Amino acid sequence: MSSHTETNRSHWNENAASYNNKFEKTILQIISEIQARRDWIGVDWVDESSDDEDSNFGIKETPRTVRLLDYACGTGLVSRALAPYVTQCVGIDLSEGMVAEYNKSVANQGITPSEMSAQVGNLLDPSNPSPAALSGPELYEFDISAVGLGFHHFDDPALAAKRLVERLKPGGTLLIIDFQPHEHMHHHTHAAAKTVTHMGFSEVDVKRMFEEAGVGEGFEYVVVGKGIVFTDKSDESKTVSRKVFMARGSKL
Ligand SMILES: C[S@@+](CC[C@H](N)C(=O)[O-])C[C@H]1O[C@@H](n2cnc3c(N)ncnc32)[C@H](O)[C@@H]1O
Repeated sequence: MSSHTETNRSHWNENAASYNNKFEKTILQIISEIQARRDWIGVDWVDESSDDEDSNFGIKETPRTVRLLDYACGTGLVSRALAPYVTQCVGIDLSEGMVAEYNKSVANQGITPSEMSAQVGNLLDPSNPSPAALSGPELYEFDISAVGLGFHHFDDPALAAKRLVERLKPGGTLLIIDFQPHEHMHHHTHAAAKTVTHMGFSEVDVKRMFEEAGVGEGFEYVVVGKGIVFTDKSDESKTVSRKVFMARGSKL
């Protein structure tokens, strides 16, 4: 395991239980920004108001599935945002603590694990490119692979894009939500700084990664409205403001 990977794992394990409460406002803001762009994301969503779940002139059809891979899922921000429009959310995260928080909130909402669940895993270890625990068919052929605020923690985000595109079906969508380029963070003021490998991503950087991963088709990069403020309830001086982007592209 690279030292960044181990640093991330222990940091997120220590911070898993407090994450939802600490970043509650930010999480709700990003969820609504994602939902506002669901047409732009461009997946053929399941829509409760459509006739997807009705029988067609009385003839029963196999229900259509729309499956989300939420990579670096943490406590489940992206899954929560897209759950109303998909039939299954599958989370993967390096941190056991984050996975436990994800699965705890699924259970608390009375959602079944077949609809939404997370497991521990790392698709980005160069010394173990296809971990046995992540090689089952249930972890392939997704309609959408997404990473919310995870890319800046990865050693090699371009490799992440490739690994996530391998998990998509043809026509599937890669969605990345992360920060625009920003100044360095200081380790003494931000405990999470040691887990950060990249100070944001420009449109040019992200476009190149999408093209190299095979999802350059229909590439778009949008900057999300007003920007996002990360408030630390325990210490206002640690509040930082970031511009968030969303990028999408399709696999041919
Ligand atoms: C800032 S949190 C974001 C969590 C969630 N996606 C969200 O938007 O709230 C970053 C997450 O990335 C995970 N992570 C970091 N490196 C990873 C890797 N190589 N593979 C999987 N998850 C990783 C961490 O464990 C952590 O849960």
